Amino acid sequence: MNKIAVVVGASRGIGRSVVYQLANTPHLTVYALSRNIDKMDREYASFPNISAHYFDLQKGISDQLSDIFSNCQQIDFLINNAGYLVNKPFSELSSEDLHRSYQTNVIGVMQTIQCLLPKLTHGSHVVNISSMGAFQGTVKFAGLAAYSSSKAALVNFTELFAEEFKSSKIKMNCLCLGAVQTEMFAEAFPEFTTAINSDHMAEYICRFVFDAHKWMNGKIIPVSMSTP
Ligand SMILES: NC(=O)c1ccc[n+]([C@@H]2O[C@H](COP(=O)([O-])OP(=O)(O)OC[C@H]3O[C@@H](n4cnc5c(N)ncnc54)[C@H](OP(=O)(O)O)[C@@H]3O)[C@@H](O)[C@H]2O)c1
Repeated sequence: MNKIAVVVGASRGIGRSVVYQLANTPHLTVYALSRNIDKMDREYASFPNISAHYFDLQKGISDQLSDIFSNCQQIDFLINNAGYLVNKPFSELSSEDLHRSYQTNVIGVMQTIQCLLPKLTHGSHVVNISSMGAFQGTVKFAGLAAYSSSKAALVNFTELFAEEFKSSKIKMNCLCLGAVQTEMFAEAFPEFTTAINSDHMAEYICRFVFDAHKWMNGKIIPVSMSTP
């Protein structure tokens, strides 16, 4: 039977690489969700198993998802990859910066999962994409108070969801990624480069999405070469 994967944050960077890798998986239909619908339409037009949909985590989530998934009964894999990074000194963070960070990085993810719950109940794997900066005990970077703390909330939510739904068939895990060379990384840290590109990271994410829920639930996995 055909399986269904949903990638939120699918227009560029890691999400785009994930969509391309999923596109080559037999018997898999992929829903690619992001705001930049023109780019996704261009990118994915030649793949009959990918459908691109406008979706904004800052707007009415329930109405958008009801439209997108009106003909979809079940979702096997949900990858919450969208992220918003503001790099600013804490004293300069505006209320808009804080709200945008938390809405995109955690509240919107929670609302998305709430809306999609009825389609996840047959044994689905939800994978939340967080950051090493949100992982306790790792090196922290000045300027990332809004971003990393909102990603830490996503980490904590993963553990809480897994506890609350442990008797259901839904499994949820969270990957805390280290630096990946993407537009987000280049915009936030123009003075740095990193050896890991989005295709490398997507390869690991896809493997994890397909398999990890057979062995783990509510787990927070650091995915990084750096120490500690
Ligand atoms: N790159 C890194 O070094 C790194 C490290 C640790 C963790 N991460 C995490 O990995 C994920 C992917 O990062 P990336 O580097 O690939 O970032 P990116 O290049 O900025 O891509 C982010 C994706 O999220 C989507 N997005 C942003 N705001 C959205 C919104 N309001 N509604 C719906 N979609 C939205 C963007 O699409 P649209 O603009 O079209 O909506 C884009 O497809 C993020 O969660 C990020 O926090 C990245």
